[in-house]
Amino acid sequence: MRRAIYPGSFDPVTNGHLDIIERGCKLFDEIIIAILVNPDKQPFFSIEERRQMLEEVLKTIQRRNCVLRVDDFEGLLVHYAVAQEANAIVRGIRAISDYEYELQMALMNRRLEPSIETVFMMPAETYSYVSSRLVKEVFQLGGELDGLVPPLVDARMKEKVKKG
Ligand code: PNS
Repeated sequence: MRRAIYPGSFDPVTNGHLDIIERGCKLFDEIIIAILVNPDKQPFFSIEERRQMLEEVLKTIQRRNCVLRVDDFEGLLVHYAVAQEANAIVRGIRAISDYEYELQMALMNRRLEPSIETVFMMPAETYSYVSSRLVKEVFQLGGELDGLVPPLVDARMKEKVKKG
């Protein structure tokens, strides 16, 4: 049984995240998509909203026989991973610019918990420039998000702004 944690802010989940999860399904029997609860950050979506959107959009991807679970966590990622009896942490790397930070995190996590491996995965080139941060910026400045996020996320972002 190979279980991986795919951690992140997922504020919001993008098509790039989903691409990584689909690819991860080729390697793991179970992936826990773990949303970081970060009290220092002012998020666009609450944890509950992010969780609910993830659960919905995960129904649309090719998961093979892989079990997908959505959860949230606080504190050290490796403590959470051990508590979940995971073998690995999955992170997406889009470009060399991601690599330095990701390598630092992976090595720190290995030092803290040598039993957990970090697996870097590359998304499809189409998503190599997609990030939650840019998605929010484009949205807030009136740009279209077609193809960058699932339609449900696009709709939820629009609803949120309407509600104010
Ligand atoms: O989607 P993000 O914001 O790039 O995800 C970053 C995340 C959640 C993977 C990272 O901030 C994290 O693991 N935070 C948990 C706290 C922790 O374990 N810190 C030490 C990491 S070396």
